[in-house]
Amino acid sequence: MHASHQSGLLAAIGTTPLVDLSPGFPGEAQVWGKLESFNPGGSAKDRTARAMVADATAKGLLHPSAVAVESSSGNLGIALAREAVAGGWEFHCVVDPRTNQATLSMIAALGAVLHPVAEPDPETGDWLTARRNLVAELKETLGAVNLDQYSNRAAFDAHDQGTMREIVQQLGHAPELLAVAVSTTGTVGGCLRHVRNHGYDTKVVAVDAEGSVLFDGARGERILPGYGAGVVTDLSQEVHPDRVMRVSAAEAVHAARGMARTTGFVPGASGGAVAAAVAQLIEQGVADEVVAVFHDDGRAYLDTVYNDSWVKEHIGGAE
Ligand SMILES: Cc1ncc(COP(=O)(O)O)c(C=O)c1O
Repeated sequence: MHASHQSGLLAAIGTTPLVDLSPGFPGEAQVWGKLESFNPGGSAKDRTARAMVADATAKGLLHPSAVAVESSSGNLGIALAREAVAGGWEFHCVVDPRTNQATLSMIAALGAVLHPVAEPDPETGDWLTARRNLVAELKETLGAVNLDQYSNRAAFDAHDQGTMREIVQQLGHAPELLAVAVSTTGTVGGCLRHVRNHGYDTKVVAVDAEGSVLFDGARGERILPGYGAGVVTDLSQEVHPDRVMRVSAAEAVHAARGMARTTGFVPGASGGAVAAAVAQLIEQGVADEVVAVFHDDGRAYLDTVYNDSWVKEHIGGAE
């Protein structure tokens, strides 16, 4: 490995801005956005990847002749592809058709090998299950290491010591309420651990998708990548948020588009879901001060969430 890699882009992970997004929300509530799109890979998953890779490298699992395989909805794929460049190992990323084209192109640009699954799992109809089945197969055939983001507890460390610690530092105190979109639940789990270990009274809200099976949800179709899950992840069994809110694709898309035009920040799909949930909580009078974590931004969603014809076809109604 070239020594300069260590001090390259990976060193720019974290210390993302916390900005005032109150004009995008009803009433007088103070809403802060933690903009994870400012990470070099464009998402919060840079932090998760960094923690998982540091752990696996220390354990001797990742080294220049190693091969790694991982399932991703996209953002972790970008983050791991960059880690693979720095670490000199080979990376294979299993994706499904919901992943944004721009994200796939970025993973490929970083030199990783893409393995798209063609069909959902025949038994459950779930794409994530199909992806994980292909990961198991590739692990065998390639002799690959699988860091398994769905059970890897390094994600908790990343968001406990990173995301949530920064929020408290930037704000000067622990917020009244924190809203975080969930998939593996690594982000919300790490934030929760920080809050509870420090005895803060921050209420932590997990923003899940309609159709996600996390937190006893009923399985259904999900068309947006990033938030929600079709399997109960190992991590989620340890995660107990104060409240779970389920947001439909239509609500997420509508809120994302509204946020772009009221605040100038163009969120990704899960950011739209978080914005919809936060607006509801404010309207219910649940909190006056909220920090919303925005896992990524809208750049990879310009052909979907922000495209009028896509919205008309997949969500219906005029936007
Ligand atoms: C855009 C986006 N939002 C939210 C999440 C959920 O984060 P976590 O897997 O830590 O629960 C992800 C994870 O892939 C994501 O990519």
